[in-house]
Amino acid sequence: MADDQATLSLGGKDQGFPVRHGSVGPDVIDIRKLYAQTGAFTYDPGFTSTAACESAITYIDGDEGILLHRGYPIDQLAEKSTFMEVSYLLLNGELPSKGELERFTYTISRHTMLHEQLSTFYRGFRRDAHPMAIMCGVVGALSAFYHDSTDITDPQQRMIASHRLIAKMPTIAAMAYKYSIGQPFVYPQNSLTYTGNFLRMTFGVPAEPYEVNPVVEQAMRTIFILHADHEQNASTSTVRLAGSSGANPFACIAAGIACLWGPAHGGANEAALNMLREIGRPERIPEFIARAKDKDDPFRLMGFGHRVYKNYDPRAKVMQKIAEQVLGELGVDDPVFDVARELEQIALHDDYFIEKKLYPNVDFYSGVVLSAIGFPTSMFTALFALARTVGWVAQWNEMISDPEQKIGRPRQLYTGATQRDYVPVEQR
Ligand code: CMC
Repeated sequence: MADDQATLSLGGKDQGFPVRHGSVGPDVIDIRKLYAQTGAFTYDPGFTSTAACESAITYIDGDEGILLHRGYPIDQLAEKSTFMEVSYLLLNGELPSKGELERFTYTISRHTMLHEQLSTFYRGFRRDAHPMAIMCGVVGALSAFYHDSTDITDPQQRMIASHRLIAKMPTIAAMAYKYSIGQPFVYPQNSLTYTGNFLRMTFGVPAEPYEVNPVVEQAMRTIFILHADHEQNASTSTVRLAGSSGANPFACIAAGIACLWGPAHGGANEAALNMLREIGRPERIPEFIARAKDKDDPFRLMGFGHRVYKNYDPRAKVMQKIAEQVLGELGVDDPVFDVARELEQIALHDDYFIEKKLYPNVDFYSGVVLSAIGFPTSMFTALFALARTVGWVAQWNEMISDPEQKIGRPRQLYTGATQRDYVPVEQR
């Protein structure tokens, strides 16, 4: 729809640009002809006011603290759905029928194994390699093993690659963990659920049977659902940008993993738990709050604040409940949980955080839960990558199927030297 016009006055001339309306959310001014019409670019580093694509997958209302996947609120999906169902929903646009869900779950379970030669790939890494370093490498390497699903012009191949990525990611992440602790890799067990299988591959050993704890399985399932997609965040935009050149899906997801690793994005769950451990006891909270508010101190409260949410992150609310359940079930009495709860209360009543609309995000409590389950902090972001893979592939597929898709190629405001003549080294 392009009913309205926005007028831009530049150099004494008025130029009209179409305004497009989404089904919900802010209007966007279509400036694709701006350069052709005016010779000017827009300047928006960090994309704070720029819609880079049209999408029908996920919607966030940051002021209200709402997150919808294909229209369904995240809290309903987290409470009532399964990760396989949410994956189907993200990929296909609608909730599956019983038969569709069974077929999809079966298909994913048929792709859980890795090419055996990939296990030798792991041995090339140092034992103390960060799991995200291994994930970047191994996921990128999938394109060297699955040539029959790298033709991005073939929708069938695109779907097979998507299923492979969703199915293999738990195996890849669990193997990264096993390698780091020197235990044998555990092969997938397809009679288990997606989450149960991942827990067994991570915490089971070949020497004895592994029993999945239903409370832990349910918690992991919910954590995966909470992380499944999040609109045009940095890693998803990276996947789209990499994919816009026609790169194969395995390479694009590896690029997404690299971006997710940073502490301002997926790495925040690891950083948040490290911070809570460093605070150690509630009496030290004021000192850290003061540091977070100090302009001259680069310290930030990790797990607080969000580019889009200017209200409580709806995922953080669910995560806080899971933390109560898991710590209760496992009988874990971790002082970091008390620190987290108190820190949250103090920050929520502090003028600095109120004014800047800084609320806990999904990463604030996730580290507490993952640590109680038994994951080392270095695995936290790898789990985020595992869960986000379905969002990445759904967004990548949407982009490739979009007839208006073009290679992503931002412009710049150049402030460097203007043209000058080369000076030989003896004369400099
Ligand atoms: N602690 C203290 N001050 C903060 C924080 C924080 N966590 N976050 C933002 N601020 C301040 C910031 O200093 C700035 O103040 P001023 O206007 O005086 O310069 C103001 O709030 C706006 O911050 P910004 O950095 O311009 O906002 P942004 O939208 O660019 O950054 C963010 C968003 C998530 C990177 C940032 O809030 C942050 O660094 N948070 C900590 C890291 C974190 O928890 N990241 C996980 C995000 S959720 C999971 C995910 O999507 O991956």
